[in-house]
Amino acid sequence: MTVQSQASNPGHICIIMDGNGRWARQRLMPRSFGHRQGVDATRRCVEFFAGAGVDYLTLFAFSSENWKRPEEEVSNLMELFIRSLQRYTDELHEKGLRIRFIGNRDRFADKLRQQIEQTELKTVDNRGMTLIIAANYGGHWDIVNAARELATRVQDGEISIAQIDDRQFASGLALGEVPSPDLFIRTGGEQRISNFLLWQLAYTEFYFCDCLWPDFDDREMQLALDEYHRRQRRYGKTGDQVEVPPGC
Ligand code: IPE
Ligand code: IPE
Ligand code: MG
Repeated sequence: MTVQSQASNPGHICIIMDGNGRWARQRLMPRSFGHRQGVDATRRCVEFFAGAGVDYLTLFAFSSENWKRPEEEVSNLMELFIRSLQRYTDELHEKGLRIRFIGNRDRFADKLRQQIEQTELKTVDNRGMTLIIAANYGGHWDIVNAARELATRVQDGEISIAQIDDRQFASGLALGEVPSPDLFIRTGGEQRISNFLLWQLAYTEFYFCDCLWPDFDDREMQLALDEYHRRQRRYGKTGDQVEVPPGC
């Protein structure tokens, strides 16, 4: 008997891209410098995982708590967000990527909201990897939204309370029909979820690394994949149950 490891690459990877500020501080540079370098790392990462055959890549770009940062940093991040979308939408479109955004858009400036809509619209029919950008996203916000949607459907008589189950609940979440992440990566050394995909991470494999986001290169990404391949996913079963006989 051999232990079943993950033979194929993860279908869905989600990443908390953390460590831009510390990366800049180590170089005696302003945090904004780290965020700009972070965009280059993001581009590299999208290319690498698309090349690895990943179907969905969900990146945490701005959390619902990040508004608490100094005003200057927030406006800097919003500006960088718009500029990056303007700069890279065509390139990603030509590569066949579909780009989607999750999170509450209400607080964004019109200009950013319009850019987000344009990017989504332009790439909606693409059939390559789906890149999902979580912006002003929070796991609590997501779950509360789903609860609200279900309550409305019950109120409208569309479903009964007894019909509410995991599947019905999940259909109201921002990722909706997207399969749950197989692999969660967080760079920057912190070992916490920071209100990312709370519901969806129930059976995701976690991988934390100390590497700061601007330094997250192909080698680091391969290390994360290698580690994933060593994991045994049991979903509540015993190890023996998920072991496969040799040759299978
Ligand atoms: C992640 O890097 C980027 C965003 C949250 C937008 P940080 O800015 O959190 O970097 P550190 O954690 O302070 O180093
Ligand atoms: C999480 O990073 C959010 C993003 C990477 C967008 P933070 O740096 O904001 O998380 P905490 O505050 O250390 O938990
Ligand atoms: Mg951080």
